[in-house]
Amino acid sequence: MTAGDGPPSADDQARAATLRERLEEAAHEYHGLDAPRMADAEYDRLFRELQALEAAHPELRTPDSPTMRVGAPPASQLAKHAHLSPMLSLGNAFNDEELSAWEERAVRAAGDDVRRAGYVAELKIDGAAVSLTYRDGVLETGTTRGNGVIGEDVTANLRTMRDVPLRLRGKAHPAVVEIRGEVYMPFSHFERMNAERVAAGEPVFANPRNSAAGSLRQLDPAVTAARPLRFFGYAATAPGGKPLPFTTQWELLDTLDAWGIPVAPNRERCATLDEVHEWAHDVEHRVRAALDFAIDGAVIKVDSMTLQAELGDVGREPRWAIARKFAPDIAETRLIAIQVNVGRTGSVNPFAILEPVEIGGTTVKLATLHNFELIRDKDLRPGDWVQVKRAGDVIPQVIGPIPDRRDPKQPPAPYEPPVRCPSCDSTLVAGQDRGMLYCPNFTCPARQLEALVHFAARGAMDIRGLSYARLQQLVAAELVHDAADLYDITAGQFASLERLAEKSAENLVQAIEASKAQPLSRLIFALGIDDVGEIAARVLARHFGTMDALMNAPEEEILAVRGIGDVIGRSTAAWFADRQARALVKRLRQRGVTFTEPNAATGSALKGLTVVLTGTLSTLSRDEASALVEAHGGRVTGSVSKKTSFVVAGDDAGSKLEKARTLGVEVIDEAELQRRVAEGS
Ligand code: IVH
Repeated sequence: MTAGDGPPSADDQARAATLRERLEEAAHEYHGLDAPRMADAEYDRLFRELQALEAAHPELRTPDSPTMRVGAPPASQLAKHAHLSPMLSLGNAFNDEELSAWEERAVRAAGDDVRRAGYVAELKIDGAAVSLTYRDGVLETGTTRGNGVIGEDVTANLRTMRDVPLRLRGKAHPAVVEIRGEVYMPFSHFERMNAERVAAGEPVFANPRNSAAGSLRQLDPAVTAARPLRFFGYAATAPGGKPLPFTTQWELLDTLDAWGIPVAPNRERCATLDEVHEWAHDVEHRVRAALDFAIDGAVIKVDSMTLQAELGDVGREPRWAIARKFAPDIAETRLIAIQVNVGRTGSVNPFAILEPVEIGGTTVKLATLHNFELIRDKDLRPGDWVQVKRAGDVIPQVIGPIPDRRDPKQPPAPYEPPVRCPSCDSTLVAGQDRGMLYCPNFTCPARQLEALVHFAARGAMDIRGLSYARLQQLVAAELVHDAADLYDITAGQFASLERLAEKSAENLVQAIEASKAQPLSRLIFALGIDDVGEIAARVLARHFGTMDALMNAPEEEILAVRGIGDVIGRSTAAWFADRQARALVKRLRQRGVTFTEPNAATGSALKGLTVVLTGTLSTLSRDEASALVEAHGGRVTGSVSKKTSFVVAGDDAGSKLEKARTLGVEVIDEAELQRRVAEGS
C-alpha cells in the first residue's frame, strides 16, 4: 500500500475494491450464513488496512465502503425526513373469526380472486420500523417510522448495523427503492446487554423493543454501533409506483433475500385462509417459544401485488394486510422454591420451581433465574407471586415478583444464595461474570456428570444408549469419573448396574468402543472446552490435523487460525495448558481414541500464495476448491490484482480471467492446482 498525497495508483484502487469485497463477504458469512470463515483478527486487520488506504486517498472512499459503518460524527439533533410513500400501520385480528372477517371484507372489495390468489403469512417482528432508501443499489438514507409521513433520519446509525447492506447484492437494482422492515434486538443479546448495564450501574431497558428503538435514535452513531441491533425486511416500494422486479409478496421476500437483506424465518405461502389459521396456531404455540426475537403476532398479506393495489388502503391501514395478534405470553404464579444445578464448567445455575401455570398453550413448572445478582436486584423470594414469561427461549423466565401480592404483615424471607456446592460441598467461589458462583472442584460429581453427558452427546462422541440416567448411575457407583474411564468399563460392570440386561450391557460396551473411531473434530468438541462449539472444533481439527499439533500450539498460533476468534482461541489455549486436562487427553490416547482428522490441512504447498478461483471447475465445487487451497496454506481472495499468485480458471470464466491476462497473472486449471498440491505435500 502506498500512502501519499498523489492520486491513488491502479494497485491501490484494486486493493481497496478487494478489501471492500472481502469485508462485505465476511460480514455476510458472519451474519447471514451463520458460518464465519474469517477470523475476527483478520477482519480487523483488513478493516484497518482499508481505513488507512482511504485516509491516504479519500477519493477511494465510496458510500458503500464497510468503513462507513462507523465513524460518522454525533448529530446534535436527528433531521426530519419525509417518506416517499407513507409508512402504514395495520389493523388487528385477535382470533380466527376476526381473520376470516378480514378475508370477507377483501373479497367484497376485490372479488373472489382474493381467495384464489392466496396469502403470505409472516412473523410480526416487535421492533422499530425503518425505511431504507437504496439508489442504484447503494444505501442512501434510512429513517424511522415517525408519524408515518415524516420520520427521523437515522442513516448514520443504520450504517453501523451489519445486517443492513450498504450495497445490495446482485445486479440490476431498481433506480430507487424503499425497503421497509424492522430493527430489533435478539433476546439473548438484550439480556446480556441488560446484565452488563446492571453491572455498570446503568438503568436497564424494559424490553427488546424499547431498547431497539432507543438504540436506533441515538445522536452518536458510535453508541448505536455498540448495541446488538439486527434487521429484517418485509416490504419494498418504488416512488411513483414504478414497477419492481416481483409481482407477489412471496417473490418480494425472495428478492430481498437475494439482495442480502435478512428476511424473517418461518414465512409461509398459504393457498387458503384455513392454511393461514393452521400456520398461525403453530407459530403461536410452538414456533414462537423457540425464536430469539420478540414477535407480537403475525402479518397476513394478500400475495398478489395486483390485488394489493386494487384493494388499496383505508386511512392509514392497508386492506390487503392484517396483523393476527396472539394471546399474551405472560402469566402469574407462585414461586415455590429457588434451586440450583451445577454445570459442566462448575457454574451454579439458579432456577425457579413454580406452581404449574399455563403460558401460551404449555404448562410451565420451571424457569431460569440466570444468576444470583438478578435474584437480589429483583428481590425475588421463595413464596412470592411472580410474573413468568415464555418467549425467546424455550426455557421460561421469571420477570419479577408482584409486590402488591406480597403479604406486608408476613413477607417471605429474602433468598440467600448457597455457600457450598450442593453436590460435593466445596465452598463456592465468585466467577468473573457478575452474579455467578462456581464450584471450583474439577472432580465434583455434578460437574463430572454434565461433562460426561456432553462427551457422549450426539454432535460429540455420539455414544448411543449412554443416557443421562445411565451416566448418573455410573457416576453414583463411582465406576466413572471422567471420559477416559468410560473406555475401561466392562460388560460385567454395566450388567451389575440396576435394571440393565446383559445384552444391553454388551451393546453399550460396543457403542463406547466404536466411539474411539470418531474424528478429532468430534473429540475436541466432546472435551467441553468453554466456547468451543461444533464448528470451532471442526476448524481447529482441520487446521491442526492432530491432537498433538493442537495441544502443543502456542496461543498465538491458535488465535491466528482463520475462523477462530479471540474468545475461542484463548479458551482453547487455556484448556490445553491445564494439567488435569492434559492428563485426561493422555489417558484418552492410551485407550486408543482417534487423535487425527481425516480432512485436515495436509500441506504447505501453497503457503503464502494468494489464489483467485473463477468459472466452473471440472470436479471441485467453489467451496471445495477454497478448502483445498486453504488446507495447503494458501489464501483465496475474490478479485485479481498484481498481488494474486495465480488464478484457477474453469469453464465460463469471465472478467477475472481477462483481468489476470491483462495484469500478466498466471492462469492454471483445476488439474494443475491438484498437481501442485499433491507435489508439495
Ligand atoms: S407490513 C402496509 N410485515 O408492524 C404494510 N409489518 O403494527 C405494513 N411489522 O408498521 C407493514 N413485522 O412496523 C409488515 N412482517 C411484517 C411486519 C410488520 C412487523 C410492523 C410494522 C408495522 C407494524 C404495524
